[in-house]
Amino acid sequence: MESFLLSGLLGFLMVNMLLASGKQEIRFYRYYNVTWGNSHFSSLYNDTEVQLTLDQSSGAGFESISYYQSGLFNMRIKIPEQKSPGVLTSFYLTSKESLHDEVDFEFIGSNGPPYTLSTNVYTNGVGGREQNFHLWFDPTTDFHSYKLVWNLYRVVFFVDKIPIRVFENLGAKGTYPTQAMKVVASIWNAQDWAGKIDWSKAPFTAHFQDFDIDGCALRYHPNPMGGYGGCYSDHFSTPWTRNRTLSARKKMQYHNVRRKYLIYDYCKDRTRYPRPFPEC
Ligand SMILES: *[C@@H]1O[C@H](CO)[C@@H](O)[C@H](O)[C@H]1NC(C)=O
Ligand SMILES: *[C@@H]1O[C@H](CO)[C@@H](O)[C@H](O)[C@H]1NC(C)=O
Ligand SMILES: *[C@@H]1O[C@H](CO)[C@@H](O)[C@H](O)[C@H]1NC(C)=O
Repeated sequence: MESFLLSGLLGFLMVNMLLASGKQEIRFYRYYNVTWGNSHFSSLYNDTEVQLTLDQSSGAGFESISYYQSGLFNMRIKIPEQKSPGVLTSFYLTSKESLHDEVDFEFIGSNGPPYTLSTNVYTNGVGGREQNFHLWFDPTTDFHSYKLVWNLYRVVFFVDKIPIRVFENLGAKGTYPTQAMKVVASIWNAQDWAGKIDWSKAPFTAHFQDFDIDGCALRYHPNPMGGYGGCYSDHFSTPWTRNRTLSARKKMQYHNVRRKYLIYDYCKDRTRYPRPFPEC
């Protein structure tokens, strides 16, 4: 009797696991395209993973085909494993205007753990809002998920579902990313500020997975309709459009991770910013 119940339970669990793993992997070309460094780009596993390579001749990058007005943007990333000072791997949103809006994840290459993840926000062409974290795992050995939720209310940065940064819309003009943005990823040579690259370790390769985009895509750019009215997406659920603050549990994770791993905060940098940004 007991073993009958147990096998029933196991069968139930297995069916559910199969259903979960049967989730269709989104192919790269559905939402993205290569934008530069074609010879340093390759697509793997039926376009469910891509790799970008940096050597002395080039880096590479890709971006979303559409512009988005808001959304949930997740990417699974594994950064180059060699000793990599000077190598930058990035995943970000950008409006590409001259006075642009941008929301960044940037992985700064190093000689080994801990690796630094830099986050930044540009509004109306003004950046300098870095908050940098030591990662609590080795981002070169496994894929981890990096996610941005961006709506009218706030931008939340997540690492493996843990919120590490929240950037609120305070409502004042030019202080929040409101322009339509593309999703971009790249690997590039940042020797001018991130340390000298040891080219004997090249090529440096970053891997990306999970190309689903659950966002408000615009059919045209700039959006002729404005706001969510102009969304044109085949995958568009709306929970992320709501004014949802972090749950008590997420808030605790947020404070914990910042207490332990935040290594630079522009809000606290009175040398660089004697008059802090309004959001600080
Ligand atoms: C993707 O990029 C290629 C090469 O730059 C270009 O010819 C093609 O039109 C692009 N596809 C889309 C859907 O933008
Ligand atoms: C790749 O995709 C094609 C078309 O959907 C499919 O027929 C094929 O079985 C896939 N191959 C692998 C290895 O998943
Ligand atoms: C969003 O929700 C918070 C907390 O419930 C509230 O204080 C705030 O006024 C709301 N913001 C807007 C723009 O409605």
